Amino acid sequence: MILAIETSCDETSVAVLDGRRILSNVLYSQIKHHRQYGGVVPELASRLHAEKIDQILVRAMEEAEVGFSDLTHIAVTIGPGLEGALLVGMTAANMLSKALNIPLVPVNHLHGHIYAAESEFDLRFPSLICLASGGHTMIIRMKENLQFEVVANTMDDACGECFDKVARMLNLGYPGGPKIEALAKEGQINIDFPHPIKKKANAFSFSGLKTAVLTKVNDSQPEEFPNIAASIQHRIATVLSHKIRLASETCDVAQLVLCGGVFANQYIRSHILSEVPIEDVVIPSPKLCTDNAAMIGLVARHYIDQGLVVDEVKACFPQMGLAFSGK
Ligand code: KG4
Ligand code: ZN
Repeated sequence: MILAIETSCDETSVAVLDGRRILSNVLYSQIKHHRQYGGVVPELASRLHAEKIDQILVRAMEEAEVGFSDLTHIAVTIGPGLEGALLVGMTAANMLSKALNIPLVPVNHLHGHIYAAESEFDLRFPSLICLASGGHTMIIRMKENLQFEVVANTMDDACGECFDKVARMLNLGYPGGPKIEALAKEGQINIDFPHPIKKKANAFSFSGLKTAVLTKVNDSQPEEFPNIAASIQHRIATVLSHKIRLASETCDVAQLVLCGGVFANQYIRSHILSEVPIEDVVIPSPKLCTDNAAMIGLVARHYIDQGLVVDEVKACFPQMGLAFSGK
């Protein structure tokens, strides 16, 4: 029975899991506090996490209908993310672990995104993973549990960031992804935005796309904004589908896993399902694609299997990618 804590960005989340079963997954979104600044303000995020974490923890325990003595492990995100925000979750986890005398599982947030799919699906290896969040866009190969090999990474921005920046250009506010998805429904795909580094199998690039959109926005009337939203969403979908297809041509793939906040997008989900020649494609439900603590608990089970538990979690922030930092 694992209690999991996630505070890496702007969601304070605590979940309780009985094995793979999610008993509760409570989330407090700070979006309304950051919106007026057009993005996440790190200092504000830390303060809001500190204000909310104990209430969210109590609610997660109540919803799960378990007692503290039923818990066997405390899992917590230790990176990548905002340092001050992560520290709040780590401090809460350290205190709980001391008070209950149970071990801690220090979890890499990106591993959590990947294992969110295990809420509903069995992972099958070798799997190909496309992870697209606010800070990362990657294709990863996984031969076995927790064995990751990066196949493609972004050279500049993440595609979630591209959604967020384009939304800002269109005055849609933060966070951009859901706003662009909604506006795109009113528009046509009638602008041919460039397809960056199309031939390269091991890299993504989204910064040029951002500039192309900015140029278009400066030349357009607001009536055209829905078409810009539909066209950029379509281009991001085609970029992701194309890279996944390239990666799938070079290796055996038993299953494709799509994960990270961008895959909450219905258009992108269906585009990839129709374009990619892999039969077994698994995508977590939209709520488990974006940040949440249940995904941290889901992957923590595998860390525990491999003995990756500790008595105290320590900050280890510098440039943490997919690399293991469990011990
Ligand atoms: O995984 P996530 O919740 O947090 C990070 O770890 O970064 O991803 C957040 C990103 C943001 O850039 C947000 O705009 C994007 O996911 N996103 C979406 C949608 N929902 C969230 N992008 C496109 N369409 C959506 N519906
Ligand atoms: Zn995330």
